[in-house]
Amino acid sequence: MTTRLTIARPDDWHLHLRDGAMMEGVLPHTTAHFARAIIMPNLVPPVVTGDDAAAYRDRILAALPEGSDFRPLMTLYLTETTDPADVRKAAADGLISAVKLYPAGATTNSASGVRDFDRVRAVFEAMAEIGLPLCVHGEVTRPEIDIFDREAVFIDEVLDPIRRATPGLRVVMEHITTAEAAAYAAAGGDDLAATITVQHLMLDRNDMLVGGMRPHYYCLPILKRGTHRPKLVEAATSGSPQFFLGTDSAPHPQHRKEAECCAAGCFTAPVALSCLAAVFEEAGALDRLEGFTSQHGPEFYGLPVNPEKITLEKGDPIDIPATVETGAGPVAVFNPGRPLHWRVAP
Ligand code: DOR
Ligand code: ZN
Repeated sequence: MTTRLTIARPDDWHLHLRDGAMMEGVLPHTTAHFARAIIMPNLVPPVVTGDDAAAYRDRILAALPEGSDFRPLMTLYLTETTDPADVRKAAADGLISAVKLYPAGATTNSASGVRDFDRVRAVFEAMAEIGLPLCVHGEVTRPEIDIFDREAVFIDEVLDPIRRATPGLRVVMEHITTAEAAAYAAAGGDDLAATITVQHLMLDRNDMLVGGMRPHYYCLPILKRGTHRPKLVEAATSGSPQFFLGTDSAPHPQHRKEAECCAAGCFTAPVALSCLAAVFEEAGALDRLEGFTSQHGPEFYGLPVNPEKITLEKGDPIDIPATVETGAGPVAVFNPGRPLHWRVAP
């Protein structure tokens, strides 16, 4: 039985760090395990221009724990007034690694997102030309579409037409949650990849809703019917370079989760690797964990795999803290509801 596993240091290809006191509180939980992360731009106000991204990057670097060499990979929040020239310049300066598409109204702080996809056509074309990836929150927002169907409908109505109209556009389908999305990504070729979160690999909607409603499992895209989860596990553990880790770790103060209208997001950063080792072990695929956490992402983004290693050890269940204290209040830590035996060796 494997009880120790040494892998290249992982990266997180989808992370919410927030800003200010919240960022200071959550950042060490990512830098403890991850070398780099794609930083989501959905601040209030959002990170829209190259100048915004440079300023946010500097705030992240200033908040890093002493001695950390963590590298934030910045993104721009796509709006209908994004200037393709600003995107080109930010990419050429090495300031940004991707542009993020939020359909307006799809999720937390997405009000400035895109309503009319024709209005961002010139940005997509510039990105295809320079090979800059588009990270996509793939859900339609039309009120008549059921929340559990929004991802599958988005693929047919929005994503596929965009990709057909923009040959060469490199797309990351973020936090996929359905069998449909896994199949579409797998069939997409070199220009298409998908990230998968920890919670979508471990839970389904029953975990969130049966026997009482668990707000700390509420995220967007929402957890789906149980038939989808095995398809996501199959994709993550397949060894295909098109699938890699994006935790979507999304901290909210506890009072915003345990509320009449609960904010979407699971704060998984502290336990992400322990959770993933459990998922991959259960699938008999521990030998493929490194591909998912540490190799396929850099490959897609054209970056080197991290030279440093980390070791995971199996033993007594780890203590999952109920909360992490931050200057913006306590944040509940994701707990999958079962013991986690893998830890990152100190
Ligand atoms: O659950 C989520 N939380 N999904 C998102 O897309 C946004 C994120 C957040 O920013 O809290
Ligand atoms: Zn996210």
